[in-house]
Amino acid sequence: MGGHEMTAGYRSEYRRSLEDPEGFWREAASAIDWVTPPGDRILDASRPPFFRWFPGATLNTCYNALDRHADGARATQAALVYDSPVTGSQRTFTYGALRDEVARFAGVLAGLGVRTGDRVVIYMPMVPEAVIAMLACARLGAVHSVVFGGFAAHELAVRIEDARPEVVITASCGLEGSRVIEYKPLLDAAIAETAHPPAHCIVLQRPESEAALVDGRDLDWHGAMAGATPTGCVTVEATDPLYILYTSGTTGKPKGVVRDNGGHAVALAWSMPNIYGAGPGEVFWAASDVGWVVGHSYIVYAPLLVGATTVLYEGKPVGTPDPGAYGRVISEHDVRVLFTAPTGIRAIKKEDPEGEHLRRYDLSRLRTLFLAGERLDPSTYHWASDLLGVPVIDHWWQTESGWPIVANCMGIEPLPIKAGSPTKPVPGYDVRILDEAGDECPPGVDGAVTIRLPLPPGTFTTLYHDEERFVGSYLSRYDGFYLSGDGGHFDEDGYLFIMGRVDDVINVAGHRLSTGEMEEVLAGHADVAECAVIGVHDELKGQVPVGFVVLKGTVDRAPADIAGELVALVRNQIGAVASLKRVEIVPRLPKTRSGKILRATMRSIADGKETVTPSTIDDPTILDEIRTTLGRTPA
Ligand code: COA
Ligand code: AMP
Repeated sequence: MGGHEMTAGYRSEYRRSLEDPEGFWREAASAIDWVTPPGDRILDASRPPFFRWFPGATLNTCYNALDRHADGARATQAALVYDSPVTGSQRTFTYGALRDEVARFAGVLAGLGVRTGDRVVIYMPMVPEAVIAMLACARLGAVHSVVFGGFAAHELAVRIEDARPEVVITASCGLEGSRVIEYKPLLDAAIAETAHPPAHCIVLQRPESEAALVDGRDLDWHGAMAGATPTGCVTVEATDPLYILYTSGTTGKPKGVVRDNGGHAVALAWSMPNIYGAGPGEVFWAASDVGWVVGHSYIVYAPLLVGATTVLYEGKPVGTPDPGAYGRVISEHDVRVLFTAPTGIRAIKKEDPEGEHLRRYDLSRLRTLFLAGERLDPSTYHWASDLLGVPVIDHWWQTESGWPIVANCMGIEPLPIKAGSPTKPVPGYDVRILDEAGDECPPGVDGAVTIRLPLPPGTFTTLYHDEERFVGSYLSRYDGFYLSGDGGHFDEDGYLFIMGRVDDVINVAGHRLSTGEMEEVLAGHADVAECAVIGVHDELKGQVPVGFVVLKGTVDRAPADIAGELVALVRNQIGAVASLKRVEIVPRLPKTRSGKILRATMRSIADGKETVTPSTIDDPTILDEIRTTLGRTPA
């Protein structure tokens, strides 16, 4: 694809991408079917720090993902395989069938008045209709915003309030293992909370639990489909938005990452052969959720853009029904490339340390395992690579980038693997490690992981109607560089090592969460004077949040009762996915003399690391109180 030569080698491809970005991405753009092809100008750099790729070009993303395959050689090839151990069902959609479903659902949306540029919120479990809804929006040039099903009503409300959708699409319920999670009451509660309710909701009724519909507002998915007229693809500008995906920032207000159509299609189509080494007709499985960026890019768009087959798996790595589940899916559907989060592998390892369940299946056709979303610890890396006998590739990226920033590009030139490193920057990304003063750190020295502007195609173009926050959060710390929020270093060989977030974002089971947001929720409780939430190391989930709360002096209720209420509050406000299970009531919080809470110091105590008491600390004896609370030996 993209006319790229397999013989070029990593170094020369990387250099070419930075020396001649316009030439590099012009060539990659040939993998996409355009209505108006890109002209002479590939990058619009007229308004830094805003950069736009493929100005003047037009296309439709859904056409590229479905129609061109359905009308071509792939009409009867599987586009999407839905495998759902939680309902005991499977369904395969050919490219032809998926296109027809999407065209019809686009007709439903158009019938409700959804037009190009309108927003549609999708709050659904891992069912094919979630993918159909996303692609139907793309077909109309409408902007989808998928909200992860594990978020509670309030989080959904915040996103509805910000995106102001014409329509919200949901399902009556999701299935978490053997539990039925009702989605519709959460949606109803979210709508009740927002000042900008959508005109309509479309509800997919699932037999496990049907939802009550609101007259005049709610439509049944199947009923609406039965009466709809299929709709064609609407041509949009390459620079028009395809979707908004909200992600956790450092405050309670999530950031609406905006992705465009043209750059996104080009970058994802390039990434499949070059990074993942995956091609047309092959089965690609991203074991994630459509609510996260991994799901957007590698369950939905990238595999379909290149004519591969994608697997949509409604289940878990363990418990549905056993830790052999991934092996079953791989062998049953002939998965060639698997992408998941290290947590998933750790969950399997914990229940089946010898890999006996996985070994029951024929995994010989699996070529590569890719892992991202959180740090890949060396022991998980070695376990997976010994068991599977295939390259296990760590790669680092973010919701903001939309596709890998640092990886071992399997389709260009596989490089030697160093456990603990996602390898080297991907072509297009000029990654630099900067110190406080903005100077580059020498090899081995940790600093802020940044990317020199312009970012390549497919990366976010702004935060939804908040340019100021886009610039403030990412582009103003270092002039001309994008601030990733992660810290890390390069080694002598140019391999990147990510040391973790340097802000209030934590990664829990591969899910990105904001401790700042959890603090806002805790602080909202009437008995709380002040609080801090930190991410502490967890064997399974990588990190879990732990809350430290100081009660108001007037409170005389049992601390354990209040702690229980606080855990429930976070679960109800943010969602079960927040995984805040532990709240400690403490007499005081450690602070600097200027009153700043020493979260990093608390984190190192929690993780059992030796800590140097910060020289700015106001009262060092508080650290011993924290140590005692956490069961650590006082220093
Ligand atoms: N809808 C409703 N609730 C959800 C949900 C969803 N889509 N996803 C998760 N939750 C709930 C879980 O049921 C759990 O609830 P509980 O506290 O009542 O048990 C809670 O949110 C926390 O979920 P999670 O952190 O995923 O923990 P878990 O113990 O349920 O599962 C793993 C742990 C490792 C099995 C799970 O995280 C997993 O499958 N990870 C695979 C990798 C992955 O998908 N990563 C995503 C990014 S690539
Ligand atoms: P998200 O935006 O949800 O994809 O989360 C992005 C964050 O996850 C990054 O900023 C990192 O902190 C973390 N992350 C993702 N991939 C990796 C990786 N391979 N190694 C270490 N951290 C990672």
